[in-house]
Amino acid sequence: MVTVFGLGFVGLTTALGFAHMGHKVYGIDIDTERMETLRSGKIPFHEMYMEEELQKHIGKNIILENDIEAAVADSEYIYYCVGTPYGQNGSADLKYLFSAIDMTIDAIKDDKKRILVTKSTIPPLTTKEKIIPYVQNKGTVSKNISIANNPEFLREGHCWEDFINSDRVVCGCSDEYAAEKLRELYSSMDVPVFTVSLSTGEFIKYLSNTLLATLISYSNEMAEAADNFGDIDVATSFKILHMDRRWNDCDMTSYVYPGCGYGGYCLPKDTCAFYAQSTEKGFVPEILGKVIKTNESRTMVMVNKILQKLGDRNKVGVLGLSFKPNSDDVRDTPAARIIRELAKENVEITAYDPVAVGEFRKRYPDIKILFCNQAEDVCNANDVIVIATAWDEFKKIDFTGKDVIDCRYMLD
Ligand SMILES: NC(=O)c1ccc[n+]([C@@H]2O[C@H](COP(=O)([O-])OP(=O)(O)OC[C@H]3O[C@@H](n4cnc5c(N)ncnc54)[C@H](O)[C@@H]3O)[C@@H](O)[C@H]2O)c1
Repeated sequence: MVTVFGLGFVGLTTALGFAHMGHKVYGIDIDTERMETLRSGKIPFHEMYMEEELQKHIGKNIILENDIEAAVADSEYIYYCVGTPYGQNGSADLKYLFSAIDMTIDAIKDDKKRILVTKSTIPPLTTKEKIIPYVQNKGTVSKNISIANNPEFLREGHCWEDFINSDRVVCGCSDEYAAEKLRELYSSMDVPVFTVSLSTGEFIKYLSNTLLATLISYSNEMAEAADNFGDIDVATSFKILHMDRRWNDCDMTSYVYPGCGYGGYCLPKDTCAFYAQSTEKGFVPEILGKVIKTNESRTMVMVNKILQKLGDRNKVGVLGLSFKPNSDDVRDTPAARIIRELAKENVEITAYDPVAVGEFRKRYPDIKILFCNQAEDVCNANDVIVIATAWDEFKKIDFTGKDVIDCRYMLD
């Protein structure tokens, strides 16, 4: 039996994934609206396959529970999939994690052995230096608790496939009991399970995300250098680079490509959290620092291109709002950063996104935009068009007569 705290992208995928593997899962979220949506068989974001999986398992292998005591009483594994957003000075804010741990400890009324597993992304040494002492401070209840982490590597837009067809499972464990139980939990999956030290588990997640961010910032820096030389076709250059089979075989080309900077929930906050944690512990990761700065500067590189193209006109049409195609996630999306800067210059914005308009309105109520239902409406209303997300459907648009700033280098 597994209890999962937090039913967002990672938690809902984890809960459904475990249910699919035959485990009984209790799902808990403090967002009552989210719980209601899930109980009605709908998922609260745009993600393929998950609604079908929810409808298959709801009320059977997956129970959406308000009674935390009942869920915890029945569970040997307690998973934390809550947010770990930006905290002070870029560090990870752990308040949701500790609040979920508090909820768990308060609910424990017996002496059953349990494993508390953090799936949320947390910086190296967090479990050893913060979570374990925190739990030990709770008194005798801690005696029957093992602590572990199990970082998640899924990509938004592919949550379900990435979880079900994981290429590796990493478990940072405090003891052999936790390692054995976590191997058992994943035993029906045909996947290598690595049980490592707590801090190694945490580090492996950041090793992955900081490398992806580095590839993106490197590509953006090279694109800027190419623009500075002039007379260089940046998109073609990168597409030819991708033909090197060493890139193609590993399917990393989407990260080795310029754009308007990485965004979304993970790369921006995770690069900053790692930088902050490493610096605090006495080692300044210089390359990563530059990766972050390059990413921050990318907004103004794009905004300046747009303003230059605009001249004395003051209307821009923006195509794409989500941080990447096939997702409605607009957290830390480059589109919002660009639009905010344009608004400071009194530019009027019309925008369209195939799925993210609702989320954008909710998250950025202060940004004044006229939203359209179709890309064509944006094009009809504007001479200057900005492509901010590489949705495939934008490739089919006839941009004849328009000034297009293709921030994603997606058009031929
Ligand atoms: N989104 C991704 O692509 C991704 C990939 C890998 C890892 N991660 C990491 O996973 C974690 C979760 O990310 P996400 O994108 O799923 O976040 P999310 O915002 O989509 O979901 C977090 C959920 O936790 C709930 N929550 C907060 N406190 C709670 C509590 N005490 N009890 C129960 N529920 C609570 C929130 O209401 C929310 O629904 C983060 O640490 C993130 O860095 C995310």
